[in-house]
Amino acid sequence: MDVIALDDPTDAQIRQWHAVLTAVHAADPAGEPAPEPDQTAARLLGAEPASRQRLWAVVDGGIVAVATLRLPGEPGADRPAEIDIKVRPGHRRRGLGGRLLAVAAEGLRADGRSSVIAQVLAGTPAVPFLESHGFECVLTLRGLLLRLDDVPAGRVAGLVAAGPQGYGLVRWRGVVPGEHAGALARAKHAMADLAEYEGAPWDAHRVREMAQVVAKRGDDLYTVAALHQGSIAGFTEVVVPLGATGRAAQYDTAVVPEHRGRRLGIWVKAAMLEWLAVERPEVREIETDNAGDNEHMLAVNAELGYRRERESLEFQAGAADLPGAGPRPR
Ligand SMILES: CC(C)(COP(=O)(O)OP(=O)(O)OC[C@H]1O[C@@H](n2cnc3c(N)ncnc32)[C@H](O)[C@@H]1OP(=O)(O)O)[C@@H](O)C(=O)NCCC(=O)NCCS
Repeated sequence: MDVIALDDPTDAQIRQWHAVLTAVHAADPAGEPAPEPDQTAARLLGAEPASRQRLWAVVDGGIVAVATLRLPGEPGADRPAEIDIKVRPGHRRRGLGGRLLAVAAEGLRADGRSSVIAQVLAGTPAVPFLESHGFECVLTLRGLLLRLDDVPAGRVAGLVAAGPQGYGLVRWRGVVPGEHAGALARAKHAMADLAEYEGAPWDAHRVREMAQVVAKRGDDLYTVAALHQGSIAGFTEVVVPLGATGRAAQYDTAVVPEHRGRRLGIWVKAAMLEWLAVERPEVREIETDNAGDNEHMLAVNAELGYRRERESLEFQAGAADLPGAGPRPR
């Protein structure tokens, strides 16, 4: 079995890659919607200068295992890369995951990165796999799901109407308008008090870059922000993926420290639900991950009607702690 790099994946390779994702999804207890072929193709072809990615696959007749290494920012950027490895259920425990990790570790070091993160489901083989390869768990994330059909009539409108005095709402689709870019970056910086964003400073450039990454995949990014004297005091983002799967994903929500405690978080989230109901009525569910110790956001989401679905863990490893590719086993 060979490990190959897919610098420029062919249609056939994309189809085989997708078949691996489908097989892994079928064995996955998380209950998430199955990946769509268009989504897989967009993600594999979606690398662009601001956020590069490298792809590898193990071939045994066809592709049986895949790895994606996302490299946000420029080479050598002081930001962790992200690794995702998937092995067909029938090919596990034969060292394929480990081989892909070793190749990706070389890619990580070649890009001048000092660390890599992986987000995995608690209670799955990914946990012992990562632990046996030098990764440590740095964050617990609660996966929550809001079923819009379960939200009582009038709750969203009531929350929107209860917005605090002195604040206004602004919203946009896609990349942030120029006049709000700097303020949005400052508001995103407010999230730096969460462990998951340590070492990843936000500026106007990165804010735009993140929106471009989403657009390049074919997904739609919606943002609602609360303004105070023309500047962003808090915001929330939702991404509606390519293809009408009915499930959208909550991205960042933050309120800058001096504006906390005024129910701005729940206000922008309720305004987002009101907007999506008109703009994207096909969205019936929204999923989100909250840090297990982020009591305020968990309380906001509980009040909106989010229910706990699963627990994810974020693992991190230093580039120096990861195995090298070494000699290929015969
Ligand atoms: C996690 C995953 C990639 C591991 O792939 P794999 O090819 O089976 O992994 P390897 O054969 O290289 O395993 C290497 C070591 O990891 C550990 N490990 C892997 N799976 C394990 C399991 N189910 N139980 C206990 N230990 C396990 C073992 O120490 C193993 O060595 P051993 O077989 O000599 O005991 C695979 O299970 C998978 O695709 N899971 C679903 C997708 C996923 O969660 N990916 C996230 C990973 S970033």
